Order: sequence, then structure tokens, then C-alpha cells
Amino acid sequence: MKPFAFFLAIALLAFAPVADAQQTPASQSRPQYHGDYFPNTILHDQDGRAVRFYDDLIRDKVVAINFVYTTCTDICPLDTAQLRRVQQLLGDRLGRDIFMYTISINGDSPEALRRFMRTYDVGPNWRFLTAPQADVTRLQRLLGLRVDDPNDLRGHNTSIVLGNERTAQWIKRSAYESPQNLVELLTVFLQNSAPNAPRRSQSYAAAGLIADNSRGAYLFRTRCQSCHSIGEGDRLGPDLAGVAASRPPAWLSRWIREPDRMIAERDPSALAMMARYRNLPMPNLGLSEAETADLIEHLRTQDQRRAAAPAHGH
Ligand code: HEC
Repeated sequence: MKPFAFFLAIALLAFAPVADAQQTPASQSRPQYHGDYFPNTILHDQDGRAVRFYDDLIRDKVVAINFVYTTCTDICPLDTAQLRRVQQLLGDRLGRDIFMYTISINGDSPEALRRFMRTYDVGPNWRFLTAPQADVTRLQRLLGLRVDDPNDLRGHNTSIVLGNERTAQWIKRSAYESPQNLVELLTVFLQNSAPNAPRRSQSYAAAGLIADNSRGAYLFRTRCQSCHSIGEGDRLGPDLAGVAASRPPAWLSRWIREPDRMIAERDPSALAMMARYRNLPMPNLGLSEAETADLIEHLRTQDQRRAAAPAHGH
């Protein structure tokens, strides 16, 4: 169902690329779209270099852009983790024919951007940028993102914007989109080239997860998987194999719902883990108790499946 929905979305976009104002800013003025629509706002990257938004960052390029603030503890970390997977899947195409930009919405300093990149273990060719808040708000709006209150950092727009400036095609996706889908949008749809990553159905099949449509599995895929695996080793956070058995149930459930508060309370287990994971604070993803119970059930089920499976390993 999911791949079909994905291709349906592609087909709709391909045939009506200007139908949705949210997805295609300035769709009416396509002929003079290029130089006139986007300004040459000056931004500074993580190394303090000045760049112009239109000429240096997006002109004639296929790009992925998102907006964060570096002290964010809810959705920006997930956004960043998702884009980190996109970066890994794109490999050396990134910085060559596809470009990724993360722009600070509250004027973070280049030093703060560099610290953020270290925390998230960001590889090369993904630029982090900063500019005065009013300039960034303007860019967000021009990219079709709704900004109700620029000072409401927590409520900020966490969509990821994908676009091909030359063909004037722009798409908006949520932080919960699978990184594989983002890569396909960037390569197959926006850039019109072959993907260099395996179809995700293949990777799910290989992982034995193809039939798992439970709510816990869905939540895990969209909220947790970019930072955690179950039995495939550490990612940005620890491997979660066996954690449902090794942690006390009340601790585990509270940690998944409000890790930020447990970190603020200096929970000893939390602080010990953070020290091992570059001080990356696990984000509060706003999950309900019922969703958390489904997630823990999913962790248990995966442990049981792994225990029952013949040991041929990964
Ligand atoms: C942005 C990355 C990120 C996301 C998204 C994320 N986590 Fe974490 N998680 C971490 C990090 C990092 C740690 C280690 C503790 C720390 O540094 O805060 C952690 C720790 C944990 C632990 C404790 C592991 C142990 O060994 O005790 C559990 C359980 C956990 N996460 C579950 C989840 C679940 C479930 C989700 C999805 C709802 C999720 N996490 C989403 C980064 C993330």
C-alpha cells in the first residue's frame, strides 16, 4: 500500500506540478520564477563563510532544505536524524548533484552549528547555515512554509522542502517521511535519474519486517528508526535489542514519553547513556501512553522474533 501511495503521489505531482500552492510557491509566475522569486539573502555557514541564498545555494540545483534551532529537543532532532539517513543513502552524489541545507531559525552562531553537526555525527557535504531571524522567516515563507509566529521556536515548521530550482518543482514532506522516500523524490522525481539505494520494500523484506503493519511497527519506522535499530547495531542512539527486558517497565515507558524531563532531572541511567552518545539528547516526540505501549510491544515482538529465528546473523 505504501509504495503504491508513493507512486500515486509522484504521478499526481508529475501531471499537476503547479496545482498545489503549498507544494509549488510562485507557481503562477513560472517564467520569471528564477532570479526574481528567491532573494540573494546572505547566510553564513558553519565555517563562517558568507553565501548568497539564490546564486550560491539553490540556483540550478536539486536541494533538500530544513529549518531547526540547535537547542531543540522535540522534532528537529528527528528531522536531522532523517536527513542524516538521506545523506548516507545519497553517498557521493551529495554535494555533486544534490545539495542539503539546514538553516537555523534563531540566529545560531557558526560555533553552535558546528557543535550540532558533531552531536549528530554529520558527514561532509551537508551545509548548516545561519542568518538573522527575519531573513530566515522570509525564506521559509518563500519556500511555501507556514510561519505563524517566528518567535515560537517549539511550534516551528519542521517540514523538509525538496526542490529542483531549474525546473521549479518543489515538494514539502514531514519529518516522519521515510528517508528512502526522500531519496527517491530527490533522485528519481526531481532529478530524473536512477536511485542508488535499494527499494525500501527490498530492505524491509530482507529485515523480515514486510508484513508488520502494527501501529507499534509503524511508529517505530517513522519516529525511531533513523536513530535506533533493533539488533543491527548502534545508530545515533543505542541498539534497542533486549531493552524491553533489561530496563524496568516504568522507566522505559517514561523514557520514551519524556526523555527531556528525565535528562533535566539528571536521571543517572540517562546521563550515563548521553555521555556515550555525544551528548545527543533523545528527543521528546510527544507520544501518548497508548502509543508508547505499542512501541514497547513492538520491541518485545522483535526480540521474540529474533530469538526464534535461526542464527544466521547480519
Ligand atoms: C534523534 C535521535 C533519536 C530518536 C528519533 C529516538 N531516539 Fe531513543 N535514544 C537516542 C539517544 C541518543 C539515546 C541515548 C540516550 C541519550 O543520549 O539521550 C536514546 C536512548 C533510547 C533508549 C534507552 C536505551 C537503553 O539502552 O536503555 C530507548 C528505549 C529509546 N531511546 C527508545 C526510542 C524510541 C522508542 C524512539 C521512537 C519513539 C526513539 N528512541 C527515538 C536518540 C533517539
